[in-house]
Amino acid sequence: MDTQQPQFPRKYFIIEQVDQGLYDWALCEYFNMLRYLQKTNAKLVFTNSSYFEDTTSDENEDYQKNYQQLQEEHEKRGGNMIIELKDKIGKYIQNQEKLEFDDEKKNEKISIPFKKVILLDMRAEKELQPSDLEDYDAFVFGGILGDHPPKDRTKELRNEGFELRKLTKIQMSTDTAVLASKIIMYDKVKLEDIPFVEEPEIEKKDQKGKITESCQMEGFTYVSAQYDPENSVFVNDPSLRNEPLMHPKIKNELLFVDFDFS
Ligand SMILES: C[S@@+](CC[C@H](N)C(=O)[O-])C[C@H]1O[C@@H](n2cnc3c(N)ncnc32)[C@H](O)[C@@H]1O
Repeated sequence: MDTQQPQFPRKYFIIEQVDQGLYDWALCEYFNMLRYLQKTNAKLVFTNSSYFEDTTSDENEDYQKNYQQLQEEHEKRGGNMIIELKDKIGKYIQNQEKLEFDDEKKNEKISIPFKKVILLDMRAEKELQPSDLEDYDAFVFGGILGDHPPKDRTKELRNEGFELRKLTKIQMSTDTAVLASKIIMYDKVKLEDIPFVEEPEIEKKDQKGKITESCQMEGFTYVSAQYDPENSVFVNDPSLRNEPLMHPKIKNELLFVDFDFS
């Protein structure tokens, strides 16, 4: 079943897998991206997808299971959104003139003028605008689990020479950056009109509702849970205003596990 809507022109949201190994956290973010882009007619392109695996790591079996889960979720959503490209994005750029790759499932060659590609980068000077959807064809994001203070792991992508656009001054998780871009360009809501929750404090509760742990997302901003991704609207529920829109597994479980993503 093809659940994509044809009313929007075909665009490409490109996620360069920078971390080696498909971590649980990244998997949740990629699930979210499938959800957020479902009705946009956009393709979700993973470059450097060979990094979904790490054959030198003891965790590789977990990464492979996560990859399988990503494929299953994709199939559930129609199986028509993801394009996987094994190499880093630089390999698909021809002389800074074109970005070219194959959509193998469709047996189609995609060729995008290089000047029609934007990299989302918090260090850019210009802010992403609603009209950028009409003016550009592809939007690149670092598939990077963030760190605070940010280590600028987006730099390698910036060095490719893309046109740059920023969102908020403060860092977002990659799925949040995809969502904010979707809201700006598809829902035509300006950045300053999107309700964000800055550095939210997330509480873990036991079965009796007692707070057992809490964790502050220092240095990160999230779209408020007032946004309803299925219907592309903000609901007027004040109780949701300060709730961040996050994958439930991240919010309830992964946030309370110690990771080192460096
Ligand atoms: C978690 S961020 C990675 C940040 C990483 N710590 C760094 O400093 O590069 C993942 C990606 O989301 C996008 N992103 C996150 N926050 C952004 C912002 N405020 N403006 C534009 N893009 C952003 C960028 O494409 C970035 O590579």
